[in-house]
Amino acid sequence: MNILYLNGSPRKHASATKKLADAFVAGMREAAPSSTVDEIVLYDKSIAACRGCFGCWHRTPGVCVIRDDMGDLLVSFRRADVIVWSMPLYYFGMPSKAKAFLDRLMPNNSPLFEERNGSIRHPQTYDAASQSHVLISTCGFQTTERNFEALALQFDLLCGERVSKVLCPVGGAFAAERPGRAARTRLDEVRVAGAMYAVPKSIPLNTERLLSTPVFDPDRYMAVVNRVAAIAKTPPGKERTPPSNRANAILEAFAARYCENLEPDDALAVECAFSDEPSRAVLLCEARTCTVRPAPDGRTQTRIEADVALWERIVSGETSITDALLDGTLRVWGDFEAVLRFEDLFEGVEV
Ligand SMILES: Cc1cc2nc3c(=O)[nH]c(=O)nc-3n(C[C@H](O)[C@H](O)[C@H](O)COP(=O)(O)O)c2cc1C
Repeated sequence: MNILYLNGSPRKHASATKKLADAFVAGMREAAPSSTVDEIVLYDKSIAACRGCFGCWHRTPGVCVIRDDMGDLLVSFRRADVIVWSMPLYYFGMPSKAKAFLDRLMPNNSPLFEERNGSIRHPQTYDAASQSHVLISTCGFQTTERNFEALALQFDLLCGERVSKVLCPVGGAFAAERPGRAARTRLDEVRVAGAMYAVPKSIPLNTERLLSTPVFDPDRYMAVVNRVAAIAKTPPGKERTPPSNRANAILEAFAARYCENLEPDDALAVECAFSDEPSRAVLLCEARTCTVRPAPDGRTQTRIEADVALWERIVSGETSITDALLDGTLRVWGDFEAVLRFEDLFEGVEV
């Protein structure tokens, strides 16, 4: 099986969608080990916008007047058994380079009109009967509803029944350098879906639906994004949050990322201290909640101290407690294992 894997994210190798597409392709290869994969990063290619001249239909049938990387890509496209379209959702559609690529497929279509399954199309100029497509996409919002419909419909119209879709909301969960547990589970599910896809070249609708469920509770995720964004998005060099409530805002943002359900009789209390500010507070992680409590608190098992800027970088996912510990910028007193456990209770989220 020849797999043409198109990475349509401007973030190229840092793409969240790519993590899902990599998992899907890995699954396909597990089930069909002799498959070849041609991975194309569209944003590394020279693909000009279609000029709409119809030269590829009339003057030089099958050949575009523009000389760029699309000439070779058209050949790869025709040869592929499976085309994996990996792209983020942009304004309910696709990113511009992916659209430029799509428009430039025109030389692969003939000017004839053909009616199929109730819609009119231009038939392919090559035998595409056994070619199938997988659309893999992530988005920023926490839901697929009233978000992915236009992109999904565009692929339905383009590919008919030959398209399967993996549309995962909460792309930030996958973009994080160290995806949390929920995102890792979803990546495994996508890999299994890839293995299921390899032979019938389709995945069951209920699997598509399962993969579209958000990996975090949607309301909670919205709270995380809004709190973390308030801290992380202030221009560098400027105070990210007013000094008087910085420490509190940081710890509130941390608490909002809490993703674990501890056993009812289990709890973890970590005192967070700021080396350049007098404030300190305790994060108390319990069965379903994480709350910010005043310090000192009798239940505290461990104390972490870092300066405000480092805490902000930890909350916004630029570094981790463990990494900061290793490079000596963060200090810990008390139960060291509690620190490692503590970090695992919070989702990595890129916002
Ligand atoms: C220009 C632009 C438009 C976007 N439009 C949407 C959108 O309509 N809906 C949505 O949920 N997310 C939207 N997003 C968020 C991205 O889909 C999201 O960050 C995605 O996970 C990025 O994936 P990538 O890392 O593979 O590029 C948009 C992002 C950008 C930069």
